[in-house]
Amino acid sequence: MDDLYLWLKTLHVISIIAWMAGLFYLPRLFVYHADAETGSVQSETFKVMERKLLKIITTPAMLSSWIFGLLAAYYGDFLYDTWFLVKFSFVVILTIFHFYLASFVTIFASDRNTKHGKFFRMINEIPTLIMIVVVILVIFKPF
Ligand code: HEM
Repeated sequence: MDDLYLWLKTLHVISIIAWMAGLFYLPRLFVYHADAETGSVQSETFKVMERKLLKIITTPAMLSSWIFGLLAAYYGDFLYDTWFLVKFSFVVILTIFHFYLASFVTIFASDRNTKHGKFFRMINEIPTLIMIVVVILVIFKPF
């Protein structure tokens, strides 16, 4: 039981690292893609990079973060702790942000983006801030 719990946490943290890598890197790709000329070789290359990053790494990592996180919460009996519920709320926001980024992968794929690079530079800070809050919550469990 103890080992199982530690394995769940290990798989959770590995998944989180991959998920965060995707959430940090996708908006960076959008920054450069927004400045690339429609139909150019660069623009077409960014489409492939964005699609693969989302489908092969970021979305599967999000799903496994949720699965192993919820299993860890169940086995660790954290489901009704206040720190967990607060963390959970931030993770829901992060998940909404994930789908928001995914919508831009579709928009860029059909050359319909109208946002500037500066916009993607700004939203790049959102996952960083949420990640900092979530890690503080899970380590300190302040309430
Ligand atoms: C997807 C939904 C998530 C759920 C259900 C969840 C749940 C949990 C649970 C129950 C633990 C075990 C806590 C303990 O043993 O003290 C844990 C550990 C951890 N979580 Fe999450 N989590 C989620 C997402 C995240 C996110 C988004 C991050 C960071 C960005 C994160 C970072 C961590 C870290 C660093 C640990 C290890 C803490 C430690 O062992 O001291 N989690 N998570």
